[in-house]
Amino acid sequence: MFWFLFLIFAFTQSPSLINAQSPQLNTSIWMEQLLPQIGNLHLYDITLPGTHDAASFIITSALSPDPAGDPLLDDIILFQIAEQFGIPVQDIIIPWAESQNRTLYEQALDGMRYFDLRAAFNGSDWFSYHFDLGLSIIEHLTGLQKFLQTHTSEILIIEVSHFAATNLTKDDLNGLRKIIMDLLSQWLYPRSDNFITINDCKKIKELL
Ligand SMILES: *[C@@H]1O[C@H](CO)[C@@H](O)[C@H](O)[C@H]1NC(C)=O
Ligand SMILES: *[C@@H]1O[C@H](CO)[C@@H](O)[C@H](O)[C@H]1NC(C)=O
Ligand SMILES: *[C@@H]1O[C@H](CO)[C@@H](O)[C@H](O)[C@H]1NC(C)=O
Ligand SMILES: *[C@@H]1O[C@H](CO)[C@@H](O)[C@H](O)[C@H]1NC(C)=O
Repeated sequence: MFWFLFLIFAFTQSPSLINAQSPQLNTSIWMEQLLPQIGNLHLYDITLPGTHDAASFIITSALSPDPAGDPLLDDIILFQIAEQFGIPVQDIIIPWAESQNRTLYEQALDGMRYFDLRAAFNGSDWFSYHFDLGLSIIEHLTGLQKFLQTHTSEILIIEVSHFAATNLTKDDLNGLRKIIMDLLSQWLYPRSDNFITINDCKKIKELL
């Protein structure tokens, strides 16, 4: 009985950083607003809101290369067969593939701080994709750049992954790296072997 009561007590007394009733919390600057509470924490101490397949709010009907780089699958034989039978494959794919309906900039204003960006190379340019290609990676990152320019105390984690391409080369990947550096180098945190706190991040940023 004692333990039962204790557990309930511990649960109800656990510190909450955000008071759900608080009318003052502004999602576009929540890190800045909560800095007194979270400044001494490490990023792994807090749960960051993020979006799955963040860039899939707009997709075209251009199929992306197969994520495993399999040229056979790029031909998407099944799709061709389905279309021969009059099955509107794109009409089925698009609503399933669009897991978001806000741009990355809007998602950042909504409070998202982790972005799962999946990149496909069509042979000359990098795009987001989720089955089908989306907007260019440049366009997506420009949205996040705009957010960082105007919200100077927020920390974003941008994961660019799931590269899909046929015969991806090192040069293609360097092209993607260059896009990221050209747009965001000003805000990138240097690699660190130590676990730094959010306050340390702010200090590092002031030194950069
Ligand atoms: C939230 O913060 C942004 C950025 O500082 C500001 O432009 C906006 O007016 C604020 N919104 C509210 C409802 O206070
Ligand atoms: C975006 O998705 C949310 C969650 O499903 C929904 O509430 C909202 O109405 C949608 N907005 C638009 C413009 O489709
Ligand atoms: C990649 O997509 C862009 C934009 O749609 C297009 O201009 C370009 O020709 C495509 N590259 C290849 C190799 O298909
Ligand atoms: C990709 O590489 C394979 C194996 O080297 C080759 O057969 C294929 O033609 C290449 N595809 C393209 C689009 O370059």
